[in-house]
Amino acid sequence: MNWINLQKIFGAVLGTLLFIMAVGFLAASIYETKPGAGGGYTLETAEAEPVAEQVEAPAVEQVSLAALLANADMASGEKLAKKCTGCHSFAQDGSNKVGPALYGVVGRAIAGGEGFGYSDVLSGYNSEGRTWSFEDLDAFLTRPKDYAPGTKMSFSGLKSETDRADLLAYMQSLSAAPVAFPTE
Ligand code: HEC
Repeated sequence: MNWINLQKIFGAVLGTLLFIMAVGFLAASIYETKPGAGGGYTLETAEAEPVAEQVEAPAVEQVSLAALLANADMASGEKLAKKCTGCHSFAQDGSNKVGPALYGVVGRAIAGGEGFGYSDVLSGYNSEGRTWSFEDLDAFLTRPKDYAPGTKMSFSGLKSETDRADLLAYMQSLSAAPVAFPTE
């Protein structure tokens, strides 16, 4: 046995010892069960639960239209309505422009404005007896062409659900008999 071989054996033994130590540390840090005793991942359920809740929270956080309406910002809604006034009047007894007059549109029959020549698609919804609920208006204003393929309203839509709720809250107030917000 020469010097090189001794060195190899010594190295192998040292390597094994280091490996065993490392596994020991790792195991200790993984399987530690005493609360507060050292770092690593504790498997105690009491400590694991809050983490699980935090992970689940965003998925549950689907804000309903009702909640958005309840917290709507009327001033922001009034500002957003400026996107519409090029084509629509919101005034009481307002007249039709490029689009129909919208005073009191919430709860009104779809395509129910007087003296306006609606597209076939909105007239069709009218024949089905459909009315403008908050949900329908929300869907229409998200992307008019998706809600009513073939609509004459050339407006791309309002992407933000908060913006739509703000605008709908403002539109709701422009009525002789405002329709109550949905509760759920
Ligand atoms: C470029 C013009 C234009 C703009 C901008 C526009 N609209 Fe319209 N809108 C129309 C036209 C035209 C119609 C009729 C659609 C049809 O017959 O298919 C209409 C229809 C509607 C209707 C259905 C009314 C009814 O009596 O059934 C609502 C509600 C509506 N618009 C809301 C809005 C809102 C809110 C905005 C602003 C965010 C807006 N529109 C922006 C042109 C416009």
